[in-house]
Parts: sequence; C-alpha cells; structure tokens
Amino acid sequence: MTTGLEPALDDALATLRANIAVFDGSYPDDTTAANVYPLRKAQNGIALGGNSGWTTGFWPGMYWLAWELTGDEQFRANAARYAEDFARRVRAEEDLDHHDLGFLFSLSLVASWRLTGNGDSRDAALEAAHILTRRFLEPAGIIQAWGDLNDPAQRGRTIIDSLMNTPLWTWAAQETGDERFTEMVRRHTEQLALHILREDDSTFHTFYWDAESGEPLRGGTEQGAADGSCWARGQAWGIYGFAMNYRHTGNRLLLDASRRCAGYFLAHLPDDSVPYWDLIFGDESGEPRDSSSGAIAVCGLDELASVVDDPEEAARYRAAAETIMSSLVEHYTPSEPADGAALLVHSVYDRPKSVGVDEGSLWGDYFFLEAIARRALPSEWRPYWEAPKKN
Ligand code: GLY
Repeated sequence: MTTGLEPALDDALATLRANIAVFDGSYPDDTTAANVYPLRKAQNGIALGGNSGWTTGFWPGMYWLAWELTGDEQFRANAARYAEDFARRVRAEEDLDHHDLGFLFSLSLVASWRLTGNGDSRDAALEAAHILTRRFLEPAGIIQAWGDLNDPAQRGRTIIDSLMNTPLWTWAAQETGDERFTEMVRRHTEQLALHILREDDSTFHTFYWDAESGEPLRGGTEQGAADGSCWARGQAWGIYGFAMNYRHTGNRLLLDASRRCAGYFLAHLPDDSVPYWDLIFGDESGEPRDSSSGAIAVCGLDELASVVDDPEEAARYRAAAETIMSSLVEHYTPSEPADGAALLVHSVYDRPKSVGVDEGSLWGDYFFLEAIARRALPSEWRPYWEAPKKN
C-alpha cells in the first residue's frame, strides 16, 4: 500500500464531506481559484453553479467513490442527488454539443445504474450514448471532439482525451446488444492508435481528418506547448484510454499504444515523478507541474498492468504507479482539509490560455480518489467507465 495513503484518504473524505454543504446541489468550477473552488461560472446559457461544460461528472463520480470507500449514506445520497440532475441534463440536451459525454455520464449515470440499479439513470445514460453517435464521422471513422459539425475550424478534428469517452459506447453495447456502438469504438480507437501516436511514442493532443474523404491530415495541439510537443495530460489519457479500450476491444494495437505512451511518459518525468504540464519541460524550465496528469497516469498504469501478460512487465508498471502516487500524496495534497478545497493541488488546465494554472482541478481530484480506491478497495473493484470484459 502506498505510504501515507490512509491519512490522505481521511483528508480527502473530510473535504468531500464538508463540500456537500458548501455546494448543496450546485457545481464547483473546473478548477480552484487560490486553491478554493468557486461556483461554476454561468456559461452556455446555464446559470451560475449549474451543470455545464465537461467536468461536472467528476463531482458525483467522487461521491460514488466515497460511498464505496466508506458505506456512508451521506455520500450515496449526495451522488444520487447529482445523478438525477445528470438525467435531467441529458433529456433537456443541455450543453451536449461536444464529445465529452463519457466523462459526464459514465461517472454520474452509469455509476448510478451499476451501484444502485437505478433504471432511470440507465435509460438516460443510453440516451447520452445515442446523442454521442451524432459526432461519429464517416468515412473517417472518428468522433469529432468540439464545435458544430460544419465548423471548418473543428470539422474532422479529434483529440486524445476521447479515449475516455468511448467506454460509454462499450457499456451501451453491452446493455443493448447494439453492435454499432462496438464498431464505432473499434474504428475510432484504431484511428487514434494509428495517427495520434507519433513514431517516437509521444502523442499529438489533437488530429484532423478530411471529413469528406476520410484521409488523415495533420496533428496539432490545443492545450500543449506546441504542435510538436507532448502535452502531459494527453499522454496520460493515452496510457489509461488505450489500455482500457484494449480491454474492451481486444485490439492489440491499442495495448501496444498504451505501452508506448507509458514508456515515453515515464522517461520524461522529473525527479519527483510528477510531470510538468508539457513533457518537453524539465527542472530548469520554471514551468508548473500538472499533478492531474500524474493522477491519471497512476490509474492508467494500474490499468495497463492489469492487461499485460508478462508479470515482470506488469510489476514495472505497478512500481512506477506507486512512485508517482507516493509523490502525489506527499507533495501535492493540501496541508489540511478545508471547505471548498481540492483533494489534489498544483494541476494545470490550460497553460497557453492561462486558465487554471497551478490550481486544483475536478479531474485531478477524481483520478486521485480513483487511484486511492484502486489501492483501498478489493482487487476485483472496477472503475465506473470500465465495462467488464466481454467473453
Ligand atoms: N479533456 C480536457 C482536458 O484534459 O483538459
């Protein structure tokens, strides 16, 4: 067990408990401001504190985890309260014109269905899976990440983060038997493995296809330091997302892609094993760390270790995950729990646009708690977006 994990879990649970009353059914913003979450800003026609954007699913996701970790009814009731609002959001189709429906609905509604058997959550999650199909582009066989499907700046563009959205389709295929979901997962993930991963095992954040011909065009970035650099969080999404989609599809190209992402990520860590926000930076750069990439990588390395055949290779990934996790626990948690605080400090949302730099983030918190859950709960425990392997 990671050193210091029990006190870290106690602190995280104390913060989550305090934050039930602080937010009282509203949502925190994507990131903290001076290490405290403000209410989510009004955006996209949704009021202050409302359910908008791509990160709100992490909030009920954390409360489901807290319930599983403790059995405490307060955590279950809070998660269920938010899950109801996610079912409402699907049916109202509020702010769903983007690809992040997996982040939103796997952690809120699929978790609700899996853990409590709530049939309304299941139905709404299936509606979300159908809504996401609108963004699957033929003949390219990819999911367009952002923007209107006719927006020339976004048309045919996908991003590596999407690997965490496809599990919503894998789950929908298992629930309904509709193989079209499986086929879209297979095609999209294979396109990413073939094109978003570079020869040196680093990744592009984003990649464009010609939407008419389906031809792959070029890589680029949105949140990284440069088109040709390696955005740390993208590489971490690659470790986790390729390994998880390998489990779902059996496509060994994805297993190889996860291994390659892991090798590059681990070879570009600084001394304390928590990456700078872009892997081109080293200790002399003066740039901030992104602890959220570290937390995603811990979960991704756990996942990769669970799907490789060679026990020695698995042990190497587990050891690397423990090293990163120990550093997060020791150096990247708040000094004490507080109202409105994050669970993990020093993450970066978007450095080029100066958004959420050196702050807590909802996804950093979620993956830190998922990493704790992976260590504290019995080994059969599976994360909410992880559909069981099909036989
Ligand atoms: N999915 C957006 C991000 O990782 O910042």
